[in-house]
Amino acid sequence: MARIFLAGASGLIGQRLVPLLVQAGHHVLGTTRTEQKAGFLRSLGATPAVVDVFDAEALRRVVVASEPEVVIQQLTNLPDDLSSLEGPALERALRENARMRTEGTPNLVAAALAAGARRLVAQSILWIYAPGREPHVESDPVNAGATGSAGITVQGVIALERAVLGAAVLAPVVLRYGHLYGPGTNEEAPRDPAVHVDAAAHAAALAVDRGLGVYNVAEASPYASSERARRELGWDPGARNR
Ligand SMILES: NC(=O)c1ccc[n+]([C@@H]2O[C@H](COP(=O)([O-])OP(=O)(O)OC[C@H]3O[C@@H](n4cnc5c(N)ncnc54)[C@H](OP(=O)(O)O)[C@@H]3O)[C@@H](O)[C@H]2O)c1
Repeated sequence: MARIFLAGASGLIGQRLVPLLVQAGHHVLGTTRTEQKAGFLRSLGATPAVVDVFDAEALRRVVVASEPEVVIQQLTNLPDDLSSLEGPALERALRENARMRTEGTPNLVAAALAAGARRLVAQSILWIYAPGREPHVESDPVNAGATGSAGITVQGVIALERAVLGAAVLAPVVLRYGHLYGPGTNEEAPRDPAVHVDAAAHAAALAVDRGLGVYNVAEASPYASSERARRELGWDPGARNR
């Protein structure tokens, strides 16, 4: 049993992850920015913490006070209608989400270090590899030269993964999720490389005790292999919440 600080507990993955962690006997402190969602988090079995990750000082205070052994990042800042956006509106949305990776995540890493946590698990995305032989494995280069909207996203991911993996003392794990599908997501059907929202939550629950470094987390796909997650985390793409 561990004390776990879950940033993004009210998000789509977060709200499927809280019950898994609670069932495993962990004590979960889960974040939201709004008092309205605090009750929802309580109903899932988490102790709510209302905080904005862009307020670095407040975040640090909250994380340190909760004395977590494990910190999990399941933060995104994407509008639900992302797939219908285009042009400047799409670019604005992607920049907002990238800011979560370039500023919000480093704030969380700093807070986890200040709190003396022993473990850090963070959400990333899978579709960032440079063109090359497929299926991609975790050691393949990312597409750092991407331009336009893809470039905004890849640069955000690079910053996020650098911040997380740079905190070696936290035994960090990065989960590169495929395109989410399932309850509440903006995908009606699996889109390659795909991962069900429950299976995504299961990967994070497993990473509380297992693994180190980067893992592809998606169903069987010609694009990327998730063999490492299956082998080292014991991850099952078919895992679903009961
Ligand atoms: N791999 C993928 O394909 C992938 C991964 C993730 C999400 N998505 C898609 O993105 C869309 C939105 O997902 P979602 O509903 O999970 O996202 P969300 O609810 O908008 O945000 C996720 C979590 O991040 C938190 N958060 C956002 N900004 C924050 C900030 N500044 N400070 C602290 N916490 C903050 C939210 O807390 P609040 O309670 O304060 O809002 C929430 O807990 C969905 O359509 C989903 O399918 C796709």
